[in-house]
Amino acid sequence: MFEADFSVVPRHIAFIMDGNGRWAKARGQERVQGHFAGTQAVIKVVKHAFERGVKYVTLYAFSTENWKRPAAEIDALMSLLVRFLQEHENLFLDNKIRLETIGDLSALPEQVRAGIADLKEKTADFEERTVVVALNYSSRNEILNAAKNYAAAVAAGTESSGTPDWPTFSKYLYTEAIPDPDLIVRTSGELRLSNFLLVQAAYAELYFTRVLWPDFDERELDAALIFYASRERRFGKISEQIQKKTDL
Ligand code: FPP
Repeated sequence: MFEADFSVVPRHIAFIMDGNGRWAKARGQERVQGHFAGTQAVIKVVKHAFERGVKYVTLYAFSTENWKRPAAEIDALMSLLVRFLQEHENLFLDNKIRLETIGDLSALPEQVRAGIADLKEKTADFEERTVVVALNYSSRNEILNAAKNYAAAVAAGTESSGTPDWPTFSKYLYTEAIPDPDLIVRTSGELRLSNFLLVQAAYAELYFTRVLWPDFDERELDAALIFYASRERRFGKISEQIQKKTDL
């Protein structure tokens, strides 16, 4: 029988959780019910990813473009986030998971910000596992913000002038303390990154599945991990097989 090998797992998986609306529509339900079902998928996937040995899980929960959705849907998403942070606090505490966020939190409702600040504080000392929630996130805004802060540091003399190298500049990104994703998963059949971790994705493997996010479960995650294990990550070098032939 085929035995899957999970000895090579990505250190960091980032999820574009797409398809909640279509999942709800297919059941004659409101979009909000799709987001609720999506939250249940988040819990399953986060637990399973850490069980498999992943260290960082990033979840694209709300983009800067999502403000264009109907107010009722935005309110429902914000309420779901607050509930998730309150009702699943033990998921973080019992499994020693640190909460991090990326994005501009200043525009979020006070309740969301308070819930995040509270759980961040309670989990700040955990080092083994991290969940990163992308909220009011835009990769382009992140880069612009980094450029502004980097320029300010040069003007203040805390950073030397001249062309920065990537390690220096990347410290000004929201992801300063988070390694680049090794694997980016997008559900629902869409084949794009939608302004998500554009520069951090430089060497990421990309996995697209037609499965809608609320249906993405442990089995689907394993399928993504098996795909990842089958990839040869070259970071711009020639393939090891070709290298071996060249060395002969
Ligand atoms: C995209 O599906 C999904 C979102 C914009 C929201 C994702 C949010 C959650 C899964 C729930 C809350 C998150 C956490 C971290 C607890 P869509 O609504 O655009 O789907 P569609 O393309 O089928 O309409």
